[in-house]
Amino acid sequence: MADAAREVVAAAMAQAGAAQPFTAYAPSNIALAKYWGKRDAARNLPLNSSLSISLNEWGSRTTVAPSASGADEVILNGDVLPGSSAFAQKVVKFADLFRGDRAIPLRVETHNTVPTAAGLASSASGFAALTKALCGSFGLPLTPAQMSMVARLGSGSAARSLWHGFVRWNRGDAVDGSDSHGVPLNGVWPEFRIAIVKVDTSPKAKSSRDGMDHTRETSPLFQAWPAQAEADCGAVERAVLDRDFVTLGEWTEGNALMMHATMQAARPSLCYLTSRTWTALERLWQMRADGLQAFATMDAGPNLKLIFLEPSTGDVLAAFPEADVVEPFAARANGS
Ligand code: ADP
Ligand code: DP6
Repeated sequence: MADAAREVVAAAMAQAGAAQPFTAYAPSNIALAKYWGKRDAARNLPLNSSLSISLNEWGSRTTVAPSASGADEVILNGDVLPGSSAFAQKVVKFADLFRGDRAIPLRVETHNTVPTAAGLASSASGFAALTKALCGSFGLPLTPAQMSMVARLGSGSAARSLWHGFVRWNRGDAVDGSDSHGVPLNGVWPEFRIAIVKVDTSPKAKSSRDGMDHTRETSPLFQAWPAQAEADCGAVERAVLDRDFVTLGEWTEGNALMMHATMQAARPSLCYLTSRTWTALERLWQMRADGLQAFATMDAGPNLKLIFLEPSTGDVLAAFPEADVVEPFAARANGS
């Protein structure tokens, strides 16, 4: 059956030249309205739309070049990975989307400024940067929306990492996935802040992919999720466009807690949140009762991401001194 992303790549590769060294950067992103569940695993199409904020200089920088050794090489944060590692195999499989059955050995060197596989969205920036670097290396004239579709095949959340700022990933309706890609929301919100509260950054026990499949297959609460998640995405988008921070925060936190509730109802239960997560949440809720305007969201890991506006920075850091604060709309170094 047709797959728009694979067809776009195949058509462009038919005209491509030899691989050249090319470096690309993509930011990680945090979903304010989450993607959790697929309607089509082969094309990696989601059950609902989602909306994220990109993490500026937290992301992945990837260089694709011809391999001098004649074999594929994958280097992560300076370490040459064994070909048998799951990470290297996923990178090679993704490069095969481009190469088809042509023998084009590649050297893929990537640096993550986010912890890898800890629920801080390394897969999003990783596959978006890899898509951009492969397109650049082969000189493919894909639009950002087409690259978003291709990145989606590597990891759904990567569809949102082609842009900085707020990005909506439309679920789309087309069977071939041609309308399921990211769309950037216009405008900047300079005061918008994200605090990453790391309670544990070791790799997670269950990947997002396995976790969402298990939830969809076994959680009796999951039947309520797709429609509510779609409604949440619309509400989050309106709040962003209206610059209505409190409404945005309430919908964001409610969406994340509902996603985790559906997972916890899976059989057996899936809990990415730990006692440390809940302790931090209780601290946040107490601060909010005392007037702080900050809200939390959590992904497939125990870490919290807080959203707030610049005037609350001091209070957030007083409550969470270990947090890293990201300014999504701050000026970036060249090449980011
Ligand atoms: P996370 O929460 O960090 O996204 P996942 O388990 O969902 O964790 O994804 C981690 C996976 O993403 C890695 O095992 C690897 O396959 C992929 N990944 C992470 N960083 C990169 C990168 N820089 N380039 C290519 N793939 C990457
Ligand atoms: C909880 O994009 O990692 O972070 O498409 O299977 O690779 P795959 O899943 P992935 O899942 C992200 C899940 C999430 C929510 C989100 O980012 O929208």
